[in-house]
Amino acid sequence: METTEQVQQRRVRRRTSRRSFLTQGAAVGVGTVGAGWLLTDASPALASGGLTKGDAAILRFLAAAELIETDLWQQYNELAGVQDSETPGGSGNPAYTEAVAVLDSDMAQYIHDDLDDEISHGAFINAYLNTHGKQTVNLDKFRTLPSSKATGAQQIGRLTNLMQLTVDTSFWTRYRSDSLNPDFGDTLPQAIPDLATGQHPAIPRTNADLAPHRHLQAIANTAGFHFAWVEQGGTSLYPALAQRVTHPEVLRILLSIGGSEIMHFQTWQDKAGNAPPLTDPTTGLTFPDLNADGELTQTNLIMPEPTIFLDRKFPIVSIIRPTETKDAAMGAVKALTDDGLFIGCLPSSGVFGNVLFQCRDEACNTVDDNVRPGSSQRLRGCCDA
Ligand SMILES: [Fe+2]
Ligand SMILES: [Fe+2]
Repeated sequence: METTEQVQQRRVRRRTSRRSFLTQGAAVGVGTVGAGWLLTDASPALASGGLTKGDAAILRFLAAAELIETDLWQQYNELAGVQDSETPGGSGNPAYTEAVAVLDSDMAQYIHDDLDDEISHGAFINAYLNTHGKQTVNLDKFRTLPSSKATGAQQIGRLTNLMQLTVDTSFWTRYRSDSLNPDFGDTLPQAIPDLATGQHPAIPRTNADLAPHRHLQAIANTAGFHFAWVEQGGTSLYPALAQRVTHPEVLRILLSIGGSEIMHFQTWQDKAGNAPPLTDPTTGLTFPDLNADGELTQTNLIMPEPTIFLDRKFPIVSIIRPTETKDAAMGAVKALTDDGLFIGCLPSSGVFGNVLFQCRDEACNTVDDNVRPGSSQRLRGCCDA
């Protein structure tokens, strides 16, 4: 079975994606496509003396984040996405796929394509680092978490746990509020309060989770909100870190990849709004009717409501939020940990937490004068190691 990194390498050699198909069909040289992927010495950052230590640290942190994103999207794709040569591994779980499709009949394609995008993000950033003689990120030896035992999932070690999630759904109200912004210290209310406490599977753990029907739908609904949660994180992380890079080309990378995270988030929050209100008869997990309680949760209000930005003296404005750069990397690690993604890591994989922390500390120390080496607060879970 190919590892994600092997898939990435194969894709670099021969891109056969939905996007490159037209390019290749138009007889634009495959060599041209390949050269773009391999980032030859045409890179302006290379021409101007190489990457700074800080820019490389930020890229490494993002590469680690992208590999984590890839791992979780891989698990979703194996069970509810389109399995093909671009995103191999699983064989699909028809009942779960059907439950996820309640949110939109195109969900399987969207899941596949989001995975495709995440694979490309990690591969690109690592290739860029490598081309500039900088250390790259490979988390393969930390793939120790178990797979779902449900039909459709391959049995391999994982970086992330999608079976004990605590999903912070305040992003939902954050983008619907016209007066609050976490960058001002505001706390937004949860859209799905039950998801924000306890531990909930977003994929079937075994085939026993495929029934009763409303239990499985609650798992699919959880996935629907988790999809949006993951991508709102990237939506904020890229602009937050972009403020600390120095080279225009690195800024271009962060703005360009960050923009695709925004496109993911916007798609997923629209689909999450289609999750049917229900109570899981097995666990009691309740998805309330988001259209019963006013504009702060109304499902079709997916355009970012104008809100306060920078200073209250300015008029409210439609923006990504939060984008505060201070503690952005530390905040991302804490959010991933608090989400439950690393629950169950074996003690031997504590070094996985250290990889993230090293990336984070490098990025923080370089970009944030307020964070000094060794002063960072340790987080719970595997990241404590
Ligand atoms: Fe990504
Ligand atoms: Fe993403």
